[in-house]
Amino acid sequence: MGEPISVGVVGCGYWGPNLIRNFKLLRKCRLKTMCDASEERLRHLRTLYPDVEGVTDYCNLLQDQTLDAIVVATPVKYHYPIAKASLLSGKHTFIEKPMASTSAECEELIEIAERNGLVLMIGHTFLYSSPVRKIVEIVQNGDIGEIRYINSRRLNLGLFQKDINVAWDLAPHDISIILHVLGDSPLSVNCQGNANVTNGIEDVTNMSMTFRNKRFATIQSSWLEPRKIREMTIVGTRRMILYDDVQTLEKIRIYDVRVDRPPHYDTFADFHYSYHYGDSYIPKLAQEEPLKTECQHFLDSIEAKTQPLTGGRAGLEMVRILEASSQSLRQNGAPVFLAPTQEGQNGVAAKQNAECV
Ligand SMILES: NC(=O)c1ccc[n+]([C@@H]2O[C@H](COP(=O)([O-])OP(=O)(O)OC[C@H]3O[C@@H](n4cnc5c(N)ncnc54)[C@H](O)[C@@H]3O)[C@@H](O)[C@H]2O)c1
Repeated sequence: MGEPISVGVVGCGYWGPNLIRNFKLLRKCRLKTMCDASEERLRHLRTLYPDVEGVTDYCNLLQDQTLDAIVVATPVKYHYPIAKASLLSGKHTFIEKPMASTSAECEELIEIAERNGLVLMIGHTFLYSSPVRKIVEIVQNGDIGEIRYINSRRLNLGLFQKDINVAWDLAPHDISIILHVLGDSPLSVNCQGNANVTNGIEDVTNMSMTFRNKRFATIQSSWLEPRKIREMTIVGTRRMILYDDVQTLEKIRIYDVRVDRPPHYDTFADFHYSYHYGDSYIPKLAQEEPLKTECQHFLDSIEAKTQPLTGGRAGLEMVRILEASSQSLRQNGAPVFLAPTQEGQNGVAAKQNAECV
């Protein structure tokens, strides 16, 4: 093993400390600097990691010639300026989801990273989790047949964000999983919602995305629910998968259930749907923290000079979908059609074939 990769983390609020903890544990990494605009947050983190330097101004990280990479875990509106400065100072850059506030910002970041041969990775954490990796394996094996639709619910009381609505906050998790499982990009997005608590910031949204071959996905996101729900159903022509991320051990259950229509019938009396109720089973999952796998993947991509599984283009696609959801919200849920991506509608499928974790 060569020199460890030297990393600095900007943003030590709720999520940043999880990134700090993981990078600190990884052998390939030297966590050198923690940065937060709030001195109070830094004081707390210095008590946890007294050997890591703490600064309030991220410009210190840009000027540090010994730093290889910067991780951005600030509120979304600061992702673009900090990531741009990071890339322009020659650092590999990891940005938390969603990548930026607009697709134009994402495109610029991708261009700077590509021009300078730097790794740009986005924190679509769930793609590094064992349940999602298992679901992709099951789907690709053909076990559930053709996917008909996916339905996802991510609900909780809070945590209310001040600068983005609930779709931009929570739906990126569902969107990243759905695109990865389907291996496709959406053709259109509809979104309806309500701002119940803060004017102009929707705290409840219902999004739907259509795909080729009449497939669709729905995503319900809410900060206004009494219970924490993290549930996704993937309905196939042969079997169905229930993914319940709130469960500690049995997160995935595969149901051998389906319904068939008789191909031919002569009279209405002959017509019967045939319901199949088979066994259900729970696959064994590796007990790994997805964030650890994700942080390791960032370091591996830097070392091997390869595109990460969730690179800038995946981040851009996510932001295009979120922008479409905001446009649809303004138009009371009217469908917003997405132009094909630069990679074509197979952009996501192509990414799936790239080196995976
Ligand atoms: N991947 C995941 O599962 C996951 C989970 C939660 C949050 N997130 C993402 O992580 C990011 C941060 O979310 P959070 O909930 O931790 O937010 P937060 O508001 O709790 O923390 C953000 C921190 O950034 C600091 N900050 C703001 N501007 C700064 C600047 N210019 N320089 C240095 N520090 C600055 C703030 O002081 C604050 O401590 C968001 O993009 C969010 O979407 C990802």
